[in-house]
Amino acid sequence: MFGRRSDQTGGAPPPSTARVPASANPPAAKKLVGAKPEGQVPVPNGEEMAGQGPSQRSQDYYDTKTTIFNALIDTIDLTQLAQLDSESAREEIRDIVNEIIAIKNVVMSISEQEELLEDICNDVLGYGPLEPLLARDDIADIMVNGATRTFIEVEGKIQLTSVRFRDNSQLMNICQRIVSQVGRRVDEASPICDARLPDGSRVNVIGPPLALDGPTLTIRKFKKDKLTLANLESFGSISPEGAKILAIIGKVRCNILISGGTGSGKTTLLNCLTGFIESDERIITCEDSAELQLQQSHVVRLETRPPNLEGEGEITMRDLIKNCLRMRPERIIVGEVRGPEAFDLLQAMNTGHDGSMGTLHANTPREALSRIESMITMGGYSLPSKTIKEMICGSIDVIVQASRLRDGSRKITHITEVLGTEGDVITTQDIFVYEITGEDANGRILGRHKSTGLARPKFWERARYYNEEQNLAAAMAAAEVDDQQGEA
Ligand SMILES: Nc1ncnc2c1ncn2[C@@H]1O[C@H](COP(=O)(O)OP(=O)(O)OP(=O)(O)O)[C@@H](O)[C@H]1O
Ligand SMILES: [Mg+2]
Repeated sequence: MFGRRSDQTGGAPPPSTARVPASANPPAAKKLVGAKPEGQVPVPNGEEMAGQGPSQRSQDYYDTKTTIFNALIDTIDLTQLAQLDSESAREEIRDIVNEIIAIKNVVMSISEQEELLEDICNDVLGYGPLEPLLARDDIADIMVNGATRTFIEVEGKIQLTSVRFRDNSQLMNICQRIVSQVGRRVDEASPICDARLPDGSRVNVIGPPLALDGPTLTIRKFKKDKLTLANLESFGSISPEGAKILAIIGKVRCNILISGGTGSGKTTLLNCLTGFIESDERIITCEDSAELQLQQSHVVRLETRPPNLEGEGEITMRDLIKNCLRMRPERIIVGEVRGPEAFDLLQAMNTGHDGSMGTLHANTPREALSRIESMITMGGYSLPSKTIKEMICGSIDVIVQASRLRDGSRKITHITEVLGTEGDVITTQDIFVYEITGEDANGRILGRHKSTGLARPKFWERARYYNEEQNLAAAMAAAEVDDQQGEA
């Protein structure tokens, strides 16, 4: 049978015991293939406490599973199995496991057997104890801190789960399996690694000796249905008028910086704003780990590359942005600006690539401006501070601030325009702000989006040029009315 070691006899006499002792021999099998690649050997699933597994599992279950798993690994030809599509591979494993169960005369209920089959398939083909979490679409992040503690973020709140791995080596094996799919390695020599799951989820692994309590895995789950501005509006992350103004900002090619703390929704917002780019514009995206999902057809997606084991071959964000200037871009979208590439992005923004966008880690629009200035200074450019500030003002039109509030909700707290410099200070004006008004009995933060009463933002002329000034005026007026009603 394909996927099975070809000279497998399967002729081991069935033991007479009902339950298989942990030391029971696997069915007689002779290895045909060479040694399995290091770190690729599947390991049995760890225990999952109540709440994750379909039922509370006994120690007997795990002992039986370990035995059957070991027998399976000795029987199966992993190299051939890897060539099967996942459905056929699952079928193959199920067949063999059923045979092993029969040969070894293991007594199990049908539901127990189903659970065992599922678990073993997950261990051999998938990501073991992570599988049930990966299958859920309501999880934003999975954070594994060593074998025994796994946290998830659901609805903005971080919770401890009952998922456990057998030990750190099982966890490391799973990390290795994940990163090897994108041709990378994680081990003691290179303990830090970024990767991506086949579904697009962003993965970071940091292992021992850098992570002191065992391999640490962080997964930003890929959302199949990306949030749209309409979704953000329905969650109350932005008011309807605010959403309209954001849409206009995206359409009229303002250069936008999205600022926010970690996990505050920057990439989501960037993805939403790119939705307003016309379909005939040539868009180039530069990301450390491709997360954006642009709907337009004329998109070139670029991704940075870390150095190899010899420390060579790194392609930085700077390299990508510089190269993308030679690719006749109309819009440059940078996933995250975190270093000297800030200079190149600003240059691109004020040299005819209007409508470029990027995200940056900062807690307020003002902080975003000073962060970008320090990124440029730290990049080794010996430009006077005034020049850098002027460059920032000449490039960035709007800063949109995303925040994750303490109740776990995500809000767009500022839409702020960059006006110019006054002496040594960059002047800005808020178009929209989110004002916290209190907290309800359940600890949910109450607040509202408030327009600042501005009649005409600085990008008015730009809106006029793109025939959007009527819409802009309507949105600004509606915001004003909304405010008055809110205050009444
Ligand atoms: N307004 C929102 N309401 C509810 N959930 C949101 C909102 N914005 C983003 N999310 C969810 O929050 C999670 C984090 O979002 P996102 O990846 O955009 O954050 P980020 O700021 O880019 O994070 P990082 O700093 O790690 O890059 C995602 O699962 C996303 O679907
Ligand atoms: Mg992001």
